[in-house]
Amino acid sequence: MTITVTINGSLRTLTIDPGDRLLDVLRREGYMGVKVGCRTGDCGACAVLLDGRAVNSCLVFAAKADRADVVTIEGLERDGQLHPVQEAFLDEGAVQCGYCTPGMVISAVDLLSRTADPTEEEIREALSGNLCRCTGYVKQIQAVKRAAERMRRDPR
Ligand code: FES
Ligand code: FES
Repeated sequence: MTITVTINGSLRTLTIDPGDRLLDVLRREGYMGVKVGCRTGDCGACAVLLDGRAVNSCLVFAAKADRADVVTIEGLERDGQLHPVQEAFLDEGAVQCGYCTPGMVISAVDLLSRTADPTEEEIREALSGNLCRCTGYVKQIQAVKRAAERMRRDPR
């Protein structure tokens, strides 16, 4: 079957099998920032924005993305400039091995698109589906707070 999907702003027509997962289709198409972890919806490494909301792409059939808008970590930068959440993760030292980072950033972008000034509890809740083996989660939470401040000051 074929699907037509917008990925990071580009309209694409893709041939897929009905059982293909969005995770595998995206990686097959070269979006390697979408990470493979558990494949069971438990780690958040594969998160992407689907019509603006963070989803675990390992749990979504690619067929469901037909006529939808998908944003991967590769699609967050604008004109060569990182998204404020990406910048804040770097500035706060919230990246160690980096494997969880794309999924965490996607979850944070989803949160900040809905909540400009989230509480720490809301940030923790938003990141609760993203597992990290390297850090204690503290720096990621600081990073989301810093990104929220910047985005309130300078909405793009
Ligand atoms: S690979 Fe999708 S949630 Fe872990
Ligand atoms: S930075 Fe290594 S898993 Fe999170």
